[in-house]
Amino acid sequence: MNPTLRVAELKSLIAYHNHRYYTLDSPEISDASYDACLRELEFLEKQYPHLKTADSPTQYVGSAPKETFKKTPHSPPMLSLANAFNKAELDEFNLRVCELLAETSVEYVCEPKLDGLAISVVYAQGQLIRGATRGNGEVGEDITPNILTLQNLPKKLEGEAALLPTLELRGEVFIQKADFQKLNTLRAQQEEPLFANPRNAAAGSLRQLDARVVATRPLSVFLYEVANGKTFTSHLHKLQWMEAHGLPVNPLRSHAKGLEAVETAYQQLLQARGTLPYEMDGLVVKVDSTALRERLGEASKNPRWAVAYKFPSEEVETRVEDIQVGVGRTGVLTPFALLRPVMVGGARVSRATLHNEDELSRKDIQIGDWVFIRRAGDVIPEIIAPIPSRRTGLERPFSFPPLCPSCQAPVYRVPNQAITRCTGLSCPAQLSAKLCHFASRIAMNIEGLGEQRAEQLVASGLVKRLVDIYYLNFDKLAALPRMGEKNSQKLLAAIEQSKTCRLARFVFALGIHQVGEVTAKTLSATFQNMEALMQANFEELTQVHDVGPEVAREVLEHFANPNNRQLIGDFLAAGIAFVAENPANASGGHTLLGKRIVLTGTLSTMSREEAKAEIEKRGGKVTETVSAKTNWVVAGENAGSKLEKAKALGLHILDEQQLKHLLES
Ligand code: IVH
Repeated sequence: MNPTLRVAELKSLIAYHNHRYYTLDSPEISDASYDACLRELEFLEKQYPHLKTADSPTQYVGSAPKETFKKTPHSPPMLSLANAFNKAELDEFNLRVCELLAETSVEYVCEPKLDGLAISVVYAQGQLIRGATRGNGEVGEDITPNILTLQNLPKKLEGEAALLPTLELRGEVFIQKADFQKLNTLRAQQEEPLFANPRNAAAGSLRQLDARVVATRPLSVFLYEVANGKTFTSHLHKLQWMEAHGLPVNPLRSHAKGLEAVETAYQQLLQARGTLPYEMDGLVVKVDSTALRERLGEASKNPRWAVAYKFPSEEVETRVEDIQVGVGRTGVLTPFALLRPVMVGGARVSRATLHNEDELSRKDIQIGDWVFIRRAGDVIPEIIAPIPSRRTGLERPFSFPPLCPSCQAPVYRVPNQAITRCTGLSCPAQLSAKLCHFASRIAMNIEGLGEQRAEQLVASGLVKRLVDIYYLNFDKLAALPRMGEKNSQKLLAAIEQSKTCRLARFVFALGIHQVGEVTAKTLSATFQNMEALMQANFEELTQVHDVGPEVAREVLEHFANPNNRQLIGDFLAAGIAFVAENPANASGGHTLLGKRIVLTGTLSTMSREEAKAEIEKRGGKVTETVSAKTNWVVAGENAGSKLEKAKALGLHILDEQQLKHLLES
């Protein structure tokens, strides 16, 4: 294509998407696609310098501020960061820095790049007086009333900060992942449009005209720069000073003495990414020394002393090729989308769950739609939203089938719940899902009996009831397609081996509603044998630790069903036998069952080993790494980085005395 035309096209495309992103808080393309457009434009402007104009989006940041807020100029301007998308581009950044400074190695500070909205806040004599968005970098929006609602931002500073006539700080407002989910759930209930991602939720919330609405939004802020009012010799000193004055600064930062240390920090953060409570899109790498920063100065819109070393993009666009419905082991129908395969966060994704009928219609996803997808929690692919502007009119809305796609029995909507269930009593999809659960690693642990094999056994008629797997015949099994003699032998051996098992695994494998792994363990440890569990009445069941009336009713209902009783009798007749259960599992004394605890620092009245043993005796687990899954962090004397991380994650931190209380409770 003619470069003049392409440059014009890219400019208007970027301007359009800037408007959607910065002003409407409703992007239509992924960050990665946007970056690709911007880079192509930068490339063309470099090749054909006469095409570069002052109004090019490569020359300014973001877009014009919303008309409805008062404008406020930024001095110095709020700059943006250049990006490095890979190691080579980071090397390039470092090389340029070293060259410009005539140094061989430079010290950097690395910070997570939070995905939120940049703000500027001004304190006068320690009093918070103003807050603004970045806007176009030169002029932002005065959002002071909204900034005043930020819970973790002090409204009044003490000490030296209270003596400064003005102090202008810059930072990022963001929303934690869990709060984002809650906010969207609430919006769904109120039939309001959902936010596409935490960044948009934060930006959309902060730029609400009504501060009372902002106050209801769970926003947080981390500050990372001092723009006016005080100078520092290094970035680290600046952050420490802010911290010492009670200002919120991300504790996850590292001092990197040279390029290799930056790479290590990047890899560590990338690893920790899924466990942190907020979204990040990279690592910001900043020259530490203020004197060196001044020597480096700025290019048009980015400082030369910093770069955003971006993480691989996790949000991508793809097309919904079809929508189908799956049937789970309890007969619940779950719609899912078949997607044009794409790579998301390092995995190839071709399916995404659509949860249920309500979710599907709320998101308004149609067959043929272009959608944003994301791997939620880095595991299950999820469709965030369709892209309405890419609709052609040929999309087809999907309607839920009136009959089960597996057994053709009628389906029904459970009253007051977003659940559609198959009524079929011998539904093959339900049976194969039950079989798959029964054989799973955490249940009867039958290796080689996964989803596809289970479907095959059911479809071939070899398994009509779960117990049939214990009567499989080698010849019939080996005759199945893709099976062969060797696989048959292995599978039969695994099935045989599963006959001797712990009662808890068998109880869990039965797939009783609401009886998960932990409940199965406590039930088994309490009743010790199948017969006693089947005979247990409501009172006996509810006396079991962790078993409430709802679970008790499910257990009673399950064993009241003659088919289920018969099935258990048949399992025992087929040779299922139980190995002894550990009575300590009956959680009388199991006060820490399922809890994850991290010990850090030195304890004064017991050794770490003793503490670990006491915790484990009560069913708790002592782990080495602090993550969002950690329930408590016990901090002894001289606790170090684990304590910092726990604080950053907002975890419960206990001292030794509190640990003792916990052990005694
Ligand atoms: S420093 C002049 N540090 O990234 C340097 N920015 O693409 C200004 N951001 O506008 C930015 N976390 O909204 C810096 N630790 C961090 C950051 C950070 C997030 C955002 C900020 C900025 C954008 C630049």
